[in-house]
Amino acid sequence: MITITMRNQDGHARTLHGEAGLSLMEVAVRNGIDGIEASCGGACSCATCMVYVDESWRARLVPRSEFEEDMLELAFEADETSRLACQIRLGPEHDGLVVTVPGEQT
Ligand code: FES
Repeated sequence: MITITMRNQDGHARTLHGEAGLSLMEVAVRNGIDGIEASCGGACSCATCMVYVDESWRARLVPRSEFEEDMLELAFEADETSRLACQIRLGPEHDGLVVTVPGEQT
């Protein structure tokens, strides 16, 4: 199991446990995380699964694809720490990942 911390804008944090092979979005949705709408179901075409990745984790993730970059341009208040949770495929290397869910999505 991979342990993930998801914070909201109020600073409240939830600890989630996901299996390798799932996306971060799938783990969030399965755990009913508010703010992760994921309306396209993980097809990288809605930008409603955006999260802010904790600074200490940014360099440890696979870089954004060109497609993800394009979608993030449409996301509400995306910044350099933003990632689409559906594009982060979890593996053991993500154990301890910390992200923040925005208060609002596109
Ligand atoms: S779920 Fe739609 S872009 Fe991630």
